[in-house]
Amino acid sequence: MTATAAPHSARAVVAALREGAPASPELVNSYYGLCIPFYREFLGDHWHTGFYESDGAIGPRDQLRMEALVAQSAGITADDRVLDVGCGVGGPACHVARLTGARVRGLTPNQAQLEIARAGAAHRGLAERVRFDLGEASQLPYPGGSFDVVLFFESACHFPDRARFFREAWRVLRPGGRLAGEDWVQCEQAPQPLRSQWAARIGRSWAIPALGSIAEYASQMTQAGFRVELARDMREEMPLLRGFVTRAADRDAIGAEMRNTPDPIRQLVMQGLMELGEAAAQGAFTVGRFLATKPQEA
Ligand SMILES: C[S@@+](CC[C@H](N)C(=O)[O-])C[C@H]1O[C@@H](n2cnc3c(N)ncnc32)[C@H](O)[C@@H]1O
Repeated sequence: MTATAAPHSARAVVAALREGAPASPELVNSYYGLCIPFYREFLGDHWHTGFYESDGAIGPRDQLRMEALVAQSAGITADDRVLDVGCGVGGPACHVARLTGARVRGLTPNQAQLEIARAGAAHRGLAERVRFDLGEASQLPYPGGSFDVVLFFESACHFPDRARFFREAWRVLRPGGRLAGEDWVQCEQAPQPLRSQWAARIGRSWAIPALGSIAEYASQMTQAGFRVELARDMREEMPLLRGFVTRAADRDAIGAEMRNTPDPIRQLVMQGLMELGEAAAQGAFTVGRFLATKPQEA
C-alpha cells in the first residue's frame, strides 16, 4: 500500500503517537511529512546517525562517512543498479551515486519528500543517474532481479513488516546482489524490562512501530533467503554515544528549547533526542549495521 499526503495536523499526529497509537504506515507517513522542515534544519538531506570519529566536532561529515561505509561494504561500482528504500529527501542516494558512479533509485512513500528529492538530484546535476519513486517497502514497485544492491539508512525501523521488506529486497535483487544498511535497534544484552521499556518510548517519540534487534534483523534476512555477511553492533566500531545527547549541558539546552517551542513536532523530536541519549547511555539502544547477499545459485 502506498501512503499518500499527511492526513492529520501536527497536533493530532503528535497526540496519537504520545498516546501510543500504533505507528501505522499512514501515521508514519503523516509524521514524515510534518517533520521535513525540522529534519532538514538539523540534518540537511541526510536523516540518519553518523559514523563518528573518536574526537573532533560532530557534524554533517559523519553522516557522509556512514553512507560511504555502507556503500563500500556492499562493494558498489559504477556498473551497479542501486535501490535506496526509505530514501527521505534523497541525500544518501545522491551521495552514493556521486561516490560510486552507480545509477541509484530512491523510494519513499511520501509525496513531499519525493518532490524535494527529485529537485535535489536535478540541482546536483544527477537527474540522469538518480531517480526517485513513490512506493512502500512492503511492496517494492519493481520487477524481480532489477537491482544489484538494495540499501537502507534508518528506514527499516519504520516499516510495518520488516520480514516482508527483506523478502521484497531478495525478490528485486539479482542473484549475487547485496542488501546493505544500518538502523536503530534495541540491545539484546540489556536486561528486560529496561529494553522493552525504552523500545516502547522510542517507538512513541519517533513513529517506530516496533524497534527490532540485530539478531531479529539477521534472522529475518536469513529466512528471506539471504546469506548474512555482517550484523554488527556499531558500538564495536565507533564511539556511538558521541552522536547522542548524553552531556548534561546539551541535555539542559535541549530541555529548555523543548519547553519553549510552540511546535508540537519540534517538541516531540527534542523529547525523542533526549530519550535516545538516555537509552544509549543505559545500553538499551544502539545502531546495527548489516550486509547480506542473495546467493548466486538463487
Ligand atoms: C529516518 S528517515 C531516513 C531517510 C533516509 N534514508 C536518510 O537517511 O536520509 C526514514 C525514512 O523512511 C521512510 N519510510 C517510512 N515508512 C516507510 C515505508 N513503509 N516504506 C518506505 N519508506 C518508509 C520515511 O518516509 C523516511 O524517508
